[in-house]
Amino acid sequence: MLSRRRALGLLAGAAASVIGGSALPSPPRPAILPRRRPQREAARTHDLVFRAAKRKARLLGPDGPETAVWSYTDELFPVLRARQGDRMSVTLRNELPQHTSVHWHGLRLPNAMDGVQYLTQPPVQPGESFHYDFTLADTGTFFFHPHCNESGQVGHGLAGVLVVEGDEVRTPDADIVLAVKDWRLNPDGTWMEFVTPQGAARAGTFGTVRQVNGRPGFVQAARPGSEIRVRLLNLDSSRVLEVGVEGGEAALIAVDGHPLPPVALDASGVETWRMGPAMRVDLLVRVPPAGGALRIVDYFSAEPWEIARFESAGEARPGARRSFDPLILSAADILVPDMKRAERLPFAFSAASSSITSFAEGLDPADPLTKVLMDSLCVRDETYWAINKASWPAGGHLNVPPPVAVLKAGRSYVFELMNATPHPHPIHLHGHVFKVLSTSRTKLPEFHADTVLLSPKERVEIAFVAAPGAWMFHCHILEHLETGMMGWLRVEA
Ligand code: C2O
Ligand code: CU
Repeated sequence: MLSRRRALGLLAGAAASVIGGSALPSPPRPAILPRRRPQREAARTHDLVFRAAKRKARLLGPDGPETAVWSYTDELFPVLRARQGDRMSVTLRNELPQHTSVHWHGLRLPNAMDGVQYLTQPPVQPGESFHYDFTLADTGTFFFHPHCNESGQVGHGLAGVLVVEGDEVRTPDADIVLAVKDWRLNPDGTWMEFVTPQGAARAGTFGTVRQVNGRPGFVQAARPGSEIRVRLLNLDSSRVLEVGVEGGEAALIAVDGHPLPPVALDASGVETWRMGPAMRVDLLVRVPPAGGALRIVDYFSAEPWEIARFESAGEARPGARRSFDPLILSAADILVPDMKRAERLPFAFSAASSSITSFAEGLDPADPLTKVLMDSLCVRDETYWAINKASWPAGGHLNVPPPVAVLKAGRSYVFELMNATPHPHPIHLHGHVFKVLSTSRTKLPEFHADTVLLSPKERVEIAFVAAPGAWMFHCHILEHLETGMMGWLRVEA
């Protein structure tokens, strides 16, 4: 086991005020994020074409075999950068052999732009196009991916990163995206099956090759004392990460893109942060004195695994000896739920009952949702999981699932999420940002998210203000959502 860094972390709030009277150079900071300043630049329109197609990549190294990856652009995991308030005008052209879409994970946008085949738009068949057009409401670190056969399409690489800028009150020295995703590859560069019954019915099927940004690892030289904003995304289909930092100072500054008062990543704050598939964190790290290295490590796997390393070299950055101040982000505008009037709804995540419930009050057979049942690209033939005892029916079932809940737009809700299984489940709600009110098995600071990890047997409460539309609500372990742990909410205007 690697040693964990236990240096002094200068933190906002209580920890800082205890030590604030000592010889430390900087005063304690309030645990409040500064207000956001109005944007000065005019909003831009990002006119883009995504040509979803098969392309070649050497995932096993420059001398390794070629692999046929699927991607939206010529780059694997393209990184789009835009500013809050900008307009995204993206044409998806499907050149793949099966239907696809673009779901903008974590964004608050009009329901028709959410990219869920059958629920919010027709599937984009091979040879067809679809135009996405929306304004970026929130800042942060997001990503996008298709919504049917995710295990296979994302398994082949079909995903990208969207960074929405405009949240910084101080610009760090660098801003780096680390997208973690494993591949299910044979040594000859061909794909292994993405789904296995053993995996789908348990913690998921794992990759054979671990990578960051489509490379074996991430190593970069940086000046001593430089401050780097790290946007870390777990784009894997199944893997849970437990992220910690060694060899330098670091703070957690945002979760799923949404800023929180900085929390030191050490014994004075949180030592590690757990991330299921689809979850993101932003860290601010400070590179140690020359000769040292700051390492971002995953401790969840049997052997700690180095996600990234910043090697300190060169002349120290001016100010390198000042105390570390991770307060670089301003507060986001997130709708505040009305906790006095909020309606509470329980959701149990469990294994499927052996006899799958039939949905008496199913929707109209003319509803496009009916077709989802005929389309085995979106759900598989096996059913292992359920939400409130109902499983999204496997292909071939004749009834359509009713929504798992019907909500009213503008009202506040508290969802009590209960994990009745021995496996972790990252639960994602489309189109909303929720506040995580409590977690029964871990002690966490207050934060906002779009995906929350339920550890085995854990209970988690989340609160949010409902937005109108039909929104998916599911586990983000891709095999779990395709084998029953998926539902949708109808939010009436
Ligand atoms: Cu990334 Cu339905 O989600
Ligand atoms: Cu799950």
